[in-house]
Amino acid sequence: MNDLMKEMEIYAAEYDIPIMQKEGIEFFKDLVKGNEIYSILEIGSAIGYSAICLASLDPKIHILTIERDDERYQKAVENIEKSGLKSQIEILHADALECEIEGLFDCIFIDAAKAQYIRFFEKYEKNLKDTGIIVSDNLSFHGYVEHPTDSMSRNLKQLVRKIRNYIDYLKNNEKYDTLFLDKGDGLAISRKKKTNVIE
Ligand SMILES: C[S@@+](CC[C@H](N)C(=O)[O-])C[C@H]1O[C@@H](n2cnc3c(N)ncnc32)[C@H](O)[C@@H]1O
Repeated sequence: MNDLMKEMEIYAAEYDIPIMQKEGIEFFKDLVKGNEIYSILEIGSAIGYSAICLASLDPKIHILTIERDDERYQKAVENIEKSGLKSQIEILHADALECEIEGLFDCIFIDAAKAQYIRFFEKYEKNLKDTGIIVSDNLSFHGYVEHPTDSMSRNLKQLVRKIRNYIDYLKNNEKYDTLFLDKGDGLAISRKKKTNVIE
């Protein structure tokens, strides 16, 4: 498994594929182990790196992961085959904003187009168990969110604005408590607030 992970890291670096950073994935693994997370819906598989990392933690973990890009999807299918974890990882070749997913998950992992994070959150929160968590990656976006520079392109500025909007959206979302962590490229963990039922 270590050889495959290394191979994927080299491939991602060579073809400029944004897989999770080491510190982020190590933190995520601990989060999964410590919170009895056995079902994960991942938005954005890329080449299957994070899905394989997480599924390899425990044979009871099942992951449904969605990727819209043709080449990355094909590569992810290949890597999942090589990992021997096919029975634990189901990959869908689709645009996550256009498909419908059924069932409830312990964790929803948002790691796709940064400009669409609010839409992913609102579309998929219905698939989250009451005790579940939504994990969002890249909220620091290589440091640009906290430290924007004048030389940033217009597109990059716009993307940074969208990520900031998402951070504000999470902070102001009264249904969730969100923890922002300076891990990897910036992670947020959102947990549904417990509602007090008075009988
Ligand atoms: C940051 S990469 C995912 C990395 C992966 N989670 C990992 O750490 O190994 C984001 C991926 O999301 C995909 N993506 C972006 N928007 C999407 C959408 N609407 N539906 C499905 N996939 C999407 C991109 O093609 C890209 O491969």
